[in-house]
Amino acid sequence: MSAEGASLYSRKNPFRATLTVNRRLTLSGSEKETRHFEISLGDSGLQYEVGDSLGVFPENDPALVGRILDTLGYSGGEIVSNPAGAQVPIREALLKDFVITEPSKQLLAAVAEKDSSAEFLKDLLDPSVKTTLDDYLWGRDVLDPLLEFTAARFTPEEFVPLLRKLQPRLYSIASSQKVVGGQVHLTIAIVRYTSYDRPRTGVASSFLAERAEGEGRVPVFTHTAKNFRVPEDPATDMIMVGPGTGIAPFRAMLQERQVTGATGRNWLFFGEQRSASDFFYRDEFEKYQADGVLSKFDTAFSRDQAFKIYVQHRVLEHAAELYDWFENGACFFICGDAARMAKDVDAALHEVVQKAGGKTPEQAVEYIDALKKAKRYRKDVY
Ligand SMILES: Cc1cc2nc3c(=O)[nH]c(=O)nc-3n(C[C@H](O)[C@H](O)[C@H](O)COP(=O)(O)OP(=O)(O)OC[C@H]3O[C@@H](n4cnc5c(N)ncnc54)[C@H](O)[C@@H]3O)c2cc1C
Ligand SMILES: NC(=O)c1ccc[n+]([C@@H]2O[C@H](COP(=O)([O-])OP(=O)(O)OC[C@H]3O[C@@H](n4cnc5c(N)ncnc54)[C@H](OP(=O)(O)O)[C@@H]3O)[C@@H](O)[C@H]2O)c1
Repeated sequence: MSAEGASLYSRKNPFRATLTVNRRLTLSGSEKETRHFEISLGDSGLQYEVGDSLGVFPENDPALVGRILDTLGYSGGEIVSNPAGAQVPIREALLKDFVITEPSKQLLAAVAEKDSSAEFLKDLLDPSVKTTLDDYLWGRDVLDPLLEFTAARFTPEEFVPLLRKLQPRLYSIASSQKVVGGQVHLTIAIVRYTSYDRPRTGVASSFLAERAEGEGRVPVFTHTAKNFRVPEDPATDMIMVGPGTGIAPFRAMLQERQVTGATGRNWLFFGEQRSASDFFYRDEFEKYQADGVLSKFDTAFSRDQAFKIYVQHRVLEHAAELYDWFENGACFFICGDAARMAKDVDAALHEVVQKAGGKTPEQAVEYIDALKKAKRYRKDVY
């Protein structure tokens, strides 16, 4: 049965949950803002398993909504159709229903039609021309072309259909329901950057960090990840690699392994920039070590020294022992950045198998493929 099955609530009918804890994990001196959130699922009946994610429907930044309304000369009360077909004031539609942090192709095409100095946008939008639209879009939101091309003005009814529907964001769940009951914990890096001299924020991460306080303010649903579960046999060893926010599901899995009395050993690799400011959940992991739940714990703080140390370097340092764990039936888990980290860790694993298992590169590929087929190599990367 899916996690959603026990509840009335789903992606189509999200539960209006309440944020109860919003705590900064990164300390002074950190270059990041990563936060721990706790959300109450109240009487929703929503259930999840460790490894699942929580879907969050965010609201846009009201200051950005206000600037778009001002630039287009709207009061905010003009009535428009939202994607569900309901008639709502445009301010509410821009807050809750539409993407305003990235211009859609339709908006750029309409801007190019209305303002002759934006003609070049037509070239960017032509799929047969090799100009990269992505370069233009990088760091620009819906307000940017409206500020730049002052002849591009629309009625509210013209404007809203030029925007895409705002989508929910997924977050790996950082708690076990067997431990926290009707709560769900998340570990989230808040997206903040400055572009074209304007500070900008990620929609969902800043919504949770800044605008989600108050009863029932966070529409959520659970998203099942059947392939990212703790091993079915509690005696199976687990190796977990989770740098940055990739740590989230492993906090959940350690809670679960402790509360269920699982006898398999647990080995965690965590990495972040600096040990003094970015060592999330340090006390909890040290307690798991003291309690014997965490058999091995290796950290890689990339900026504590002049050269980079990443989790894959720690993996390589422990090649012989890791290979022993694999030979003993261990399950391997990885979570976090898909673009670079997961690929580099995968390459390191192949090296481990070659080095410690005395295998050729081809045999190492077969060995890792066999782990994947046996569901002993599980990924949750984004
Ligand atoms: C299964 C799954 C699990 C996940 N789990 C977690 C988790 O546990 N914790 C977590 O923090 N995230 C997690 N994520 C990522 C999360 O879903 C969001 O993508 C993330 O929080 C950003 O969303 P946002 O709405 O805050 O930012 P958005 O509004 O989506 O903005 C992000 C975008 O901003 C732009 N951008 C960012 N930086 C810059 C810059 N410097 N210059 C110009 N443009 C920039 C990029 O276009 C980027 O794509 C997970 C994703 C998936 C799919
Ligand atoms: N698309 C991208 O280019 C990209 C890159 C990173 C993160 N992200 C996204 O940004 C969000 C937040 O990231 P996060 O805060 O969870 O942490 P993160 O940026 O992934 O950083 C966590 C740790 O991983 C290190 N790291 C960087 N590159 C690595 C690599 N190739 N292999 C192993 N470790 C590496 C970082 O070191 P240093 O910072 O010192 O290099 C840091 O110590 C996530 O959504 C993630 O997917 C995207």
